Amino acid sequence: MKHKNIVILFSGEGSNLLNIIEKLHQKECHVAAAITNRPLAKGIEKAQQHQVKVEVIDHKAYDSRDAFDAQLLETINCHNPDLVVMAGFMRILTPLVTNNIRAINIHPSLLPLFKGGNAIVESFESSEEQGGISVHWVSSELDGGEVIAQRAFEKEANETLESFTIKIQKLEHELLPETIVKILKRDASSQ
Ligand code: GRF
Repeated sequence: MKHKNIVILFSGEGSNLLNIIEKLHQKECHVAAAITNRPLAKGIEKAQQHQVKVEVIDHKAYDSRDAFDAQLLETINCHNPDLVVMAGFMRILTPLVTNNIRAINIHPSLLPLFKGGNAIVESFESSEEQGGISVHWVSSELDGGEVIAQRAFEKEANETLESFTIKIQKLEHELLPETIVKILKRDASSQ
């Protein structure tokens, strides 16, 4: 059976991108492209080392958010994704994109707590006893779409921001690929 296509959006380090490629590419799905808004994103090389096509759409080269989003949507659609995966894509998207793609996002907190770009620090510094992560459907509301899956852990007495961040990353690397596989399998069984 032909693999389903996924397109991954990322902005920086690309550890989730690399993890998905290593675990799923050409096994559970085909990573048709990795798209970044940052020309210097470290993830670019990681994807290319695995022969995954990288598209760079530098948001600074566009006059407006709408112009960037139009180009992003067109580029995503060129790759016919069954699912778009936002893995550390640090750019707020307008409804032009969010209403026209089927996408999930990984977020480093137990949503609806700590939406936005500073979730790890806010969650670490909060009085919440647990940290955690969420995978959710992307909607027009930032980090506000329906939650698909979450994982949590207890904060330890001697927890540092560094140890907290490592736990989050480890959970992300488990839950995001698992969730992608579940969605694609569910799609296949309902077709
Ligand atoms: C992850 O913690 C993700 O939840 C957040 O950005 C980080 C991306 O890390 N949105 P990486 O680029 O995948 O290493």
